[in-house]
Amino acid sequence: MSETLVVVGSQWGDEGKGKITDYFATRADMVVRYQGGNNAGHTVVFGGNKYSLQSIPSGIFNPKTVNVMGNGMVVNPVSVIAELEKLHDRGITDYQLFISTRAAMVMPWHSVLDGAYEAGLGNALIGTTKKGIGPAYSDKYSRIGLRMGDLLEPDYFRERLDAALAVKNRELEMLGLPTFDPQQVFDQYMELAKVLGPMITDTSRMVNDALNTPDKRVLFEGAQGMMLCIEHGTYPYVTSSSPSASSVPVGAGIAPKWVRNAIGVAKAYCTRVGSGPFPTELFDEIGDGIRERGHEYGTVTGRPRRIGWFDAVVGRYTAELGGLSHWAVMLLDVLSGLDTIKICVAYDLDGKQIQSPPSTIASLARCKPVYIEMPGWTEDITGIKEFDKLPENAKAYVRKLEEVTGVPVGMISVGPDREQTIIVDPELNNF
Ligand code: GDP
Ligand code: IMO
Ligand code: MG
Repeated sequence: MSETLVVVGSQWGDEGKGKITDYFATRADMVVRYQGGNNAGHTVVFGGNKYSLQSIPSGIFNPKTVNVMGNGMVVNPVSVIAELEKLHDRGITDYQLFISTRAAMVMPWHSVLDGAYEAGLGNALIGTTKKGIGPAYSDKYSRIGLRMGDLLEPDYFRERLDAALAVKNRELEMLGLPTFDPQQVFDQYMELAKVLGPMITDTSRMVNDALNTPDKRVLFEGAQGMMLCIEHGTYPYVTSSSPSASSVPVGAGIAPKWVRNAIGVAKAYCTRVGSGPFPTELFDEIGDGIRERGHEYGTVTGRPRRIGWFDAVVGRYTAELGGLSHWAVMLLDVLSGLDTIKICVAYDLDGKQIQSPPSTIASLARCKPVYIEMPGWTEDITGIKEFDKLPENAKAYVRKLEEVTGVPVGMISVGPDREQTIIVDPELNNF
């Protein structure tokens, strides 16, 4: 039987999915990204080097691991090539990377429109990464999008490009924005195709073949986080795809039966970039301290991240949605030095206590956190390798997270490096 594991963000993104994916990728045969695009910024640290990946899977550092950018992604060819060049400059030249023929292609007008929609929203702006993710997914679902496989068929690509631009240029004109010349775009993309062409293939065939091979280990790397899910997150302050484990079959082109284990990546506190309700948000010096200690500034945009206490209402919700078997609790080291640590265990909505997030944003915006308090610890825990060696209060905090979310903690991260990882449940060593 092949082994599969889904690494899924369980808060508002930037939980440390890159680190956890890299951790397991060292022994994975395949790592598959199944949604999102270069709005993601996944950090991987090992051997004294730090890498930031946007659309390329975090298994890229392992020459034997096949990395797949699945059909559920939106792929910006210019950005993929730039990412590859950055990796080459850092000496990462021995890798296996494949891109789905079916993946939607991010075109130059998508980021222009992303910026224009945001400007049009004024104060109601979403705070997107301006990478064109929303417009690219919109065009996919409007069926006027281009796909990565179109790059392999120049005549067809040209037809699709003309059809798309007939619509898009009219939209750009209406917004008073410069239009695109089909010939120029065609020439540019045929150049990009020379570089990426050999990597573009039917990746769902590859993933299914791997799954049907005994003893293969296939890892699925989510981007963003479940609270940013277009279906189940804090709409409209979300991304335009569904990061949950339920998206893996559609976004990778496989059957649901293969999705058996999902590890929910969650910080020991919460962060969010961009607009939208955030019930446990901190506006005081405790939040500022966490931001500085955790270097909580966006990997993609450099924006300061909003900081809050761990939200177990969100934790229970995403655990259910993601079918989580374990938590990976991240950045526990950042909480060292606090007298008291709070955990939100319920919301107060209009005077009534509720245990799961309301499904409308207007209600969520009125929710007040109900906290329990845990005593903090002062020790530096960044060198600790075993759960038992953690300070008593840190252990108690982790055990409390399990209790209030109902999901066991499988691993704990106490620093950005691959080595700064504590395995709590040895079952995870089976992957
Ligand atoms: P992702 O988008 O989920 O992959 O997460 P990001 O890479 O955007 O953000 C996580 C940040 O936290 C990165 O800068 C990581 O290097 C860093 N990080 C990950 N785990 C830990 C940890 O346990 N402790 C500390 N201090 N930093 C960590
Ligand atoms: P990773 O994979 C954190 C947020 C943006 C914005 C909203 C919509 O690194 O965890 P988009 O550009 O997707 O249309 O922006 O979603 N966002 C993320 N926040 N981490 C991410 O990715 C994010 N990707 C998008 O800040 O609020
Ligand atoms: Mg990130």
